[in-house]
Amino acid sequence: MIETSASAAASGPGSPLPDRAVIPPVWSRITNIVVDHGEGSWLVTPEGERYLDYSSGIGVTNTGHAHPRVVAAIQAQAAKLLHGQQNIVYHEPGLRLYERLSRLLPGDDWGAFLSNSGAEAVEAAVKLARIATGRPVIIGFRYGYHGRTGQTMALTTAKDVYRGHFEPLPGSVYHTPYPYCYRAPGGPHAPEACTCDWEAQLDLTFHQYVYPEHVAAIIIEPVLGEGGYIVPPPTFLPRLREITRRHGVLLIADEVQTGFGRTGRLFAVEHWGVEPDILTVAKGIASGLPLSGIIARRSLLDKFPPGTHGGTYGGNVVSCAAANATLDVIEQEGLVDNARARGTQFLAGLRTIAAKYRTIGDVRGLGLMLALEFVKPDVGDGRTPNSEVTKRVQAEALARHLIVLTAGTYVNVVRIIPPLVTTAAEVDQALSILDQSLAAAGA
Ligand SMILES: Cc1ncc(COP(=O)(O)O)c(C=O)c1O
Repeated sequence: MIETSASAAASGPGSPLPDRAVIPPVWSRITNIVVDHGEGSWLVTPEGERYLDYSSGIGVTNTGHAHPRVVAAIQAQAAKLLHGQQNIVYHEPGLRLYERLSRLLPGDDWGAFLSNSGAEAVEAAVKLARIATGRPVIIGFRYGYHGRTGQTMALTTAKDVYRGHFEPLPGSVYHTPYPYCYRAPGGPHAPEACTCDWEAQLDLTFHQYVYPEHVAAIIIEPVLGEGGYIVPPPTFLPRLREITRRHGVLLIADEVQTGFGRTGRLFAVEHWGVEPDILTVAKGIASGLPLSGIIARRSLLDKFPPGTHGGTYGGNVVSCAAANATLDVIEQEGLVDNARARGTQFLAGLRTIAAKYRTIGDVRGLGLMLALEFVKPDVGDGRTPNSEVTKRVQAEALARHLIVLTAGTYVNVVRIIPPLVTTAAEVDQALSILDQSLAAAGA
């Protein structure tokens, strides 16, 4: 129904807000906060209450909320052009961003493709891998998360809720175990002394499910995100790169969550000196405006024939202006270094606190991607997932105005994703709140 002028007036500024039930339950809810504005690491309610936002809107606001330079770039661009469709015209913010993205990885053989969401970037990566290799199969990892569209659901195994109701899913997708050192069958061990049998399992996948010469690509999150913020052992990605090269299989690094400084490097693959063939980006790229894409070898992109992929809004001009300003801020304000320094501070603080709480089974992280995994220490081998305590810790933190998220297949991981602009004082404040929250939650 089209609004009449009377109902339009009733819903205008100053009128009471509509009931929250207008938002359907499919948007599972983490807080009931109504937010008015954001600044840096903080969200502020209409009443002026301040929340330390260590969710960063699920890893998006790497430059903090409403960074003045990003806002100014968006405002200036919005006043000139809101939509310059990529098939129809060229625009300066887009041309500059394509060029900049192609220079972020070592060497000069890179190009980019721009879309809107992380899932769309993964869709593009999969289509490109298939068309460029002429091979059908994609291999993903258990605990992986790549999105909620058809193809990306098929790749995702982080949790049943993401895919369980939607069979049949697209085929020619297989999953192989990720080296999750804390949950290794033989017992938890340090990633530096990894004994996980992921390589033997991948070999079995090649012998039981699919010939390696039929595999177009293996897709990997360099640090697992939704699956539980799991940092791989140092040997994993370099070895996986060797194996993929040996079989002519492309390596897709899904850096939607790990990208743009989150882990203390611009891209997480840099920690291990690994060069993928295709790298997906989204979230932190544009400080909150919808933008995503892939960075891929030019030799592959040249095999993507005109019209085989695209979309109305991909590479939106205002989002591109936001992304260019975001990249300026990341580079000029030293945010990657800050992520590394604050991450080191935070992880050390978490380790100190964790020693006091029996239900914390593992503390881990890389840069500002940090996690506490909760267990039932007196049940089984002491690693039974403890989602009850996890949810209580999250709720107690929220009651103390700290926003953190959960992760993990059994929702037994508290994950902490501060913006990369966060200060040492804010990290100390968050650690103190977490300590109080753990005590209050009976951890
Ligand atoms: C690694 C990874 N890939 C893909 C996605 C999907 O991104 P989007 O929610 O923007 O579709 C996410 C989202 O959390 C992600 O973490």
